[in-house]
Amino acid sequence: MPKLDEIHSFAVEEGIKEDPRDEEKIEEELEKRKEKYEELEGKKKEHYDEDKLENPFDDSKVIYAGDRDVEKIAVGIDIETQDLILIDRLNEKGEDIDAAFGHHPEGRALANLYEVMGLQVDTLEQAGIPVSQAEGIVRPRAEEVKKGVHASNHPRSPRTAELLDIPFMCLHTVCDNHAYQFMKNHLEEEEPETLEDVVDAILEVPEYEWSLKYDMGPEIFAGNGNNRAGKIEVLGFTGGTGLKDDLIDKMVESGIDTLIVMHAKKEQIKKAKEENINIISAGHMPSDSLGINLLLDKIQEEFDIDVFELSGFNRVER
Ligand SMILES: [Fe+2]
Ligand SMILES: [Fe+2]
Repeated sequence: MPKLDEIHSFAVEEGIKEDPRDEEKIEEELEKRKEKYEELEGKKKEHYDEDKLENPFDDSKVIYAGDRDVEKIAVGIDIETQDLILIDRLNEKGEDIDAAFGHHPEGRALANLYEVMGLQVDTLEQAGIPVSQAEGIVRPRAEEVKKGVHASNHPRSPRTAELLDIPFMCLHTVCDNHAYQFMKNHLEEEEPETLEDVVDAILEVPEYEWSLKYDMGPEIFAGNGNNRAGKIEVLGFTGGTGLKDDLIDKMVESGIDTLIVMHAKKEQIKKAKEENINIISAGHMPSDSLGINLLLDKIQEEFDIDVFELSGFNRVER
């Protein structure tokens, strides 16, 4: 039976394989970190998160390792204090859950979420936005995200996991990279003509069909269903969190017509409508479920473990 650490290391390797950056570039970034780490001194070095030297995904971490063998793992989109208590309650009723895997980052993984946003420079560049312009919209947004999460209660859920002795990890960009590659390939294969056709193509994926039961399926946020979709880019699926409305300006300049996201902010939708750019939100829970599922298929092939669904996650095996 694996420990949570082993599952986490395996997942990180799979996340690298699906990353929009090439592996060499990721290696270079890890090397740079090692150099910086060597220069650190005193308290900052003492408390440095050494996982960062091997794992390029700062939002995908073991939060509490524990020492249990993992035979059954609870998987959810959000695993926070209340979900850990739910797991503990279920165990009291005889469920035998050994560990928790949440998608959205908690603890140190949330505090460092901004660090993964750099990969969006690559996704934007691959979509045809000049790299200078990509840097110009990603860097300030990452800085904003860093400051935005700084005040959060980062020790809360790690401490809950420790108190209840439930090994707990978050895998965020590791999963989102899988969803990104899948959706990009899917839409390239389907070649949808209109925005409605894009929605129909997305609904062919089972996670999205499931999401209709909760009215959280794919929606056209900007543009008319009969509009031709033109050049479609999946730009809001991986890399921490969404960009702001300045992305819309860069799309206009770069000839991108339709933006596929997991979620979009009000200002971005407003700007898109003004500039005649189309936005389709694929849906948040189904998109996150998709990424987790693609990874879990690999994890369950590698390790003999059972999955227990909760917190907005829908298991689909492929
Ligand atoms: Fe996600
Ligand atoms: Fe998410």
